[in-house]
Amino acid sequence: MITQSPAKEGAVAAPKGPREVTAELKAEREKFYADLPKYQLGALWNVLDDALTPEPRIRSVPYLWKWSEVRPRVMRAGELVTAKEAERRVLYFLNPGLPPEKISAVGTLYAGIQLILPGEIARTHHHTPAATRFIIEGERAYTTVSGERTLMKKGDYVTTPNWTWHDHGNESDKPMLWLDGLDVPLVTELDAVFFELFVERTGNEVQPVTKPMEDASHRWAKNLRPTYQRHAGKFSPILNYRWDDCRSALQALRDDTGSPFDGIVLEYINPNTGGPSLPTMSAYLQLIRSSEHTKAHRHTASTVYHVAEGRGYSVIGGKRFDWAEGDTFVVPSWSWHEHASDGGEAVLFSFSDRPVLEAFDLIREQPLEAGYQR
Ligand SMILES: [Fe+2]
Ligand SMILES: [Fe+2]
Repeated sequence: MITQSPAKEGAVAAPKGPREVTAELKAEREKFYADLPKYQLGALWNVLDDALTPEPRIRSVPYLWKWSEVRPRVMRAGELVTAKEAERRVLYFLNPGLPPEKISAVGTLYAGIQLILPGEIARTHHHTPAATRFIIEGERAYTTVSGERTLMKKGDYVTTPNWTWHDHGNESDKPMLWLDGLDVPLVTELDAVFFELFVERTGNEVQPVTKPMEDASHRWAKNLRPTYQRHAGKFSPILNYRWDDCRSALQALRDDTGSPFDGIVLEYINPNTGGPSLPTMSAYLQLIRSSEHTKAHRHTASTVYHVAEGRGYSVIGGKRFDWAEGDTFVVPSWSWHEHASDGGEAVLFSFSDRPVLEAFDLIREQPLEAGYQR
């Protein structure tokens, strides 16, 4: 038994000077540690090195999903499972560094490819994770959010804020495919996931369309706002950021120097704040000009990239990933990364958890001194 000469009952005096860890003390400690779990307690000093690491220990790894491998499997899912059966027919990306139950493409970000076949609808529901959508293939399928419907086409960026009723339908004669990006892993970690079907609340499978087509675009996206109205909510009021507008803006700025790390990069913003389109996820469109090779940097925001146009490669964590239109790849937090076009110009869409890190003063960025990884 170890005696501590307590100053008074219930208090223990700190030993004076260095203490010899005798075999007896060691055995007493082991006994003490073995007993703690019975009381749901743990000794911090035994786990401190794992909990407070000098740098983030990232479990997500850089990875690329080839469109030539993904698309046939998504289309096969369309033969095997209806949109009605699936609720949402999506094949999602699983980061190989994470356990499969995480359903994470990278860090706090979920991503997947959704398919709506001609004549199908994906009924109305809402959930607390927010969603971004980048249209890959098809046109004239719609998304309805909070009573407003937008017809989507390739390259459009469509937002679905936290807890807004939304549904999709395809009235064209071609399949419609898009990249879904959600903050599901973050909201799950925060113990804040809620989900509800519109039919449970109202008895109707699909919400009514209550607003004119392109209402938000006229109301909020023309550098004007109705003075008699305030937009409530922390998300952008713009439902659909049109490809034609965004792509031509990139083109017009192509002679700028641009960012050394990203080339010509534009953020889809909330016109009310100048900030990100969604409070938890920012989204970007960037042009990698022909023969451009951006410098390497790293930051604590994780990013999902989707190749909208062209081909090229990125070096992520020292490894080269060659990409072409339709591919999706991920850059985990604190991983060095640089991008290069291959011949012609390339356009990358991306979304990131940067707004969350910025909100909590957790964003860190660092350029690579050598400029490039190899
Ligand atoms: Fe949804
Ligand atoms: Fe970056």
